[in-house]
Amino acid sequence: MKERKFKKVAGFCIAVVCVAMFLGGNAMAAEGDSPFMNLAKKRFSVRQFADKPVPKDLLIKVLEAGNVAPTAKNLQPHRIHVLTKAEDLAKLDTVSPCRYGAPVVLVFSYNSDEEWKHSQEPGVHSGVEDVSIVATHIMLQAAELGLGTTWVNMFRNSQLEKLFELPANEKTVLIMPIGFPAENAKPSRMHTTKKPLDKTVIWH
Ligand SMILES: Cc1cc2nc3c(=O)[nH]c(=O)nc-3n(C[C@H](O)[C@H](O)[C@H](O)COP(=O)(O)O)c2cc1C
Repeated sequence: MKERKFKKVAGFCIAVVCVAMFLGGNAMAAEGDSPFMNLAKKRFSVRQFADKPVPKDLLIKVLEAGNVAPTAKNLQPHRIHVLTKAEDLAKLDTVSPCRYGAPVVLVFSYNSDEEWKHSQEPGVHSGVEDVSIVATHIMLQAAELGLGTTWVNMFRNSQLEKLFELPANEKTVLIMPIGFPAENAKPSRMHTTKKPLDKTVIWH
């Protein structure tokens, strides 16, 4: 009788542990998350990359996701330079410490003659916003396809523009290493350190 009760309790405990392990796959994942929320939580800044090239068709899929992003007045002033050649990556390494060994780097810029400019508010223009939305689409699409990315602002804009001989009206915004994450790539603590909504949202 005692043995039967012990077996029942042990079976229950094993079931509880299994359910907890299943639910605990991603520390942030929450029951009821939408597919979009799952993807947004799955993406994290990847700073360790596998030594593996990214097939061009996969890169094109990622770039297509950027192409459907909204831009002010649909002017699409953004430009994306795809760096894959060893000599270009080596050049990039001279202006940023943040390639993290990725086999591909996307350099995002915008054409300052093509961006939207506010007619009544001098200085208000959309280039950085347009590029940022395009880059965000790309980051999320990459994550969905199993690729890792990091948004990098830590580079010398003017030096990069000179090194790659960009036209004077092309302004760089960010660079984005992209590739397959290394096996040991994992989110930094910053990925889950978030202010509560009441610190960032003001209801009126
Ligand atoms: C505008 C911007 C600039 C960033 N610049 C850098 C950078 O230069 N180098 C870097 O390693 N990460 C950079 N990051 C990545 C952030 O540190 C990272 O997104 C943040 O800590 C949250 O972590 P997560 O991306 O893993 O969720 C940048 C992110 C943004 C949005």
